[in-house]
Amino acid sequence: MNTKRILIAGLGYVGLTTGVCLAELGHSVVAYDVDDEKIVQLRKHSLHFREPELMDLMERNAGAGRLEFTSSCEESMRDVDIAFICSGTQPDSNGAADLSDVEATVQRIALGATKPFTLVLQSNVSPRGSFERLSVVLSQYLPETISAAVVVNPTFMREGSAVFDFFHSDRIVIGAWDYAAAEDIATLYSPLHCPVVLTDPVSAQLTRYASNAFLTMKTCFINEVARIATQVGADIGSVTEAMGLDTRLGTDFSEDNKTFNTSCYSGDVLVLAALAEDNGGQAALLRAVIENESGRHLLIRTLHDALHGITGKKVCVLGLATHGRADEAPNSPVHEVVTTLCRQGAHVHAYDPDSDRINLPVTQWPGIRYFADAYQAANGSDAILVASDWPELGGLDWGNIRVHMTGNTVIDGRGMLSPDTMRELGFDYLALAS
Ligand SMILES: NC(=O)c1ccc[n+]([C@@H]2O[C@H](COP(=O)([O-])OP(=O)(O)OC[C@H]3O[C@@H](n4cnc5c(N)ncnc54)[C@H](O)[C@@H]3O)[C@@H](O)[C@H]2O)c1
Repeated sequence: MNTKRILIAGLGYVGLTTGVCLAELGHSVVAYDVDDEKIVQLRKHSLHFREPELMDLMERNAGAGRLEFTSSCEESMRDVDIAFICSGTQPDSNGAADLSDVEATVQRIALGATKPFTLVLQSNVSPRGSFERLSVVLSQYLPETISAAVVVNPTFMREGSAVFDFFHSDRIVIGAWDYAAAEDIATLYSPLHCPVVLTDPVSAQLTRYASNAFLTMKTCFINEVARIATQVGADIGSVTEAMGLDTRLGTDFSEDNKTFNTSCYSGDVLVLAALAEDNGGQAALLRAVIENESGRHLLIRTLHDALHGITGKKVCVLGLATHGRADEAPNSPVHEVVTTLCRQGAHVHAYDPDSDRINLPVTQWPGIRYFADAYQAANGSDAILVASDWPELGGLDWGNIRVHMTGNTVIDGRGMLSPDTMRELGFDYLALAS
């Protein structure tokens, strides 16, 4: 294999996972972040977020000398063939990415370059104008004798299964005007044996926004059907299974398509709608998705209806992250639901199988009380919201919980429970999707 010297700039979910996985494929990876403390911790093999499998792979590849961490971008650019930009992009109110961190990263990479290289943009940036803007910044700071190609390579990895998603990609999308550079990046991924789409940079960027907007729309749709199913007494699990067997629809109404989309999906729908409108078009469907988005509003509305108002009600939230075993951004959907409930005057009793989650900012909100035991959290509650996909939550003694609740409403946001069993136990059970 033709191994490359690769720099990864920005070590959040995307950058660290990409770097570790590329090292696992045999490349020599130097991983850089502007946050010095993060580098100190990573050198000690301490991760700043949890992601299944990542720690093992990181230790193995660092031990084998294929992965090192640095806080000096310029020095680390020596002999680099490919530089990935994975720094964060904070969205504005229209969802559009703030380019300042990415621009700063491009500048440092350019200043440190010692030979021709390919710059790979993985951070989310708007399909309109950002590729050109970053190409200009690159050429401004590159030494005159050195050339660089720019390639867009959007990532579709999900928090909670990022390593799995890297090695089991459905497709790789690469956008560039320089065909040779695009092919070079495609070769990096050839051990993954998945389809590769080579296209122009704008189409590659638009693909990411369109894919995530479509997934969000799917969630909104199936959550509406789930609500109708509850009203007419249908089993949403059977409905989604039967729908999914239609190859035009696909089998996957599961996993991501349950009540909560990740916050980056929501941002992507906003970007797409704004893109259409800024160019004189309309985005009625996307605006309806934004209005409806991800079941969060539906969930609050459903609780309102079931409890005849939320103020003063005791709501037990089981699980403080959509994907139990992974960490999530502070503005994650579960946190948004919890803070909305608190704002509306509910007393939230929270429990998570991971006791470290007591330290989350959301657990400091007035109105929330954290319990180290699920049964104590549920005790005396008017309603329970199952917000995480921890298998433990499915295995709780729900008969016992029912006896000690004040109300009988259970909203299953992650499809963790059996509808029949829950109804037999006397719960007013609602799965927003399963
Ligand atoms: N998290 C996801 O699931 C996901 C999925 C697909 C795409 N993305 C996109 O990928 C990008 C990175 O996402 P993330 O979730 O890993 O972000 P993150 O905020 O978790 O991490 C970004 C990292 O970049 C570092 N950084 C900031 N400025 C820097 C600079 N000038 N030089 C070097 N490092 C710098 C920060 O210290 C931080 O460690 C974003 O544009 C995001 O929208 C994220």
